[in-house]
Amino acid sequence: MKINTAEFVISNTDVSKCPQTGLPEYAFIGRSNVGKSSLINMLTNNKKLAMTSSTPGKTQLINHFLINKQWYLVDLPGYGYANRSKKSVADIQRIIGSYLEQRLEMTCLFVLVDSRLEPQKIDVDFMNWLGKNQVPFAIVFTKADKQSKLKTDNNVKTYLNTLSEQWEELPPFFITSSLNGSGRDELLFYIESINTELKKK
Ligand code: GTP
Ligand code: MG
Repeated sequence: MKINTAEFVISNTDVSKCPQTGLPEYAFIGRSNVGKSSLINMLTNNKKLAMTSSTPGKTQLINHFLINKQWYLVDLPGYGYANRSKKSVADIQRIIGSYLEQRLEMTCLFVLVDSRLEPQKIDVDFMNWLGKNQVPFAIVFTKADKQSKLKTDNNVKTYLNTLSEQWEELPPFFITSSLNGSGRDELLFYIESINTELKKK
């Protein structure tokens, strides 16, 4: 799929203030610093669209970006950032929780995990919660450029094996690098195929 236009629309903390156009949206979530905003910039070929930072906790709001005037990419705040105040952790949880529970337009949630790490409890717990709440999701392994392809492939295999100990069916998964663009075509193709299915309905 070709990205012709990518426009920032609105940031907010309140799901009821998200765009009311009814267009499908694809949201990005995961621990702080895992690379959500960078991935959105990589997908849209626009380094300045979503704000990124080497310091965790950069994205604190629900951010909507309209793509090709037809669907949205949504940048969400990261979870699991240790240096946040209790109030800030509670605020972020409330924002994420209300978005995931109430936003009917949310078509697929991409859960980002660092491709260098073994499964982290916070991510696996979160994915279990998604399963229980029937939130459709896919896993995105990020920062694949930071190690050899062999190492990434082995880590991904171990990760999926760990999940299959608990789950009957594994979600779709993607291996990406926002630095060199790997995984971009696959992710956009996946989104496009869902958009096409939705249009048939
Ligand atoms: P919060 O908004 O704080 O939750 O973080 P985030 O998940 O949006 O992460 P962000 O995209 O801001 O990236 C965090 C840091 O990781 C930045 O310094 C990025 O440059 C770096 N980074 C993100 N993706 C990649 C990648 O694929 N490869 C490499 N090498 N660095 C990356
Ligand atoms: Mg961010």
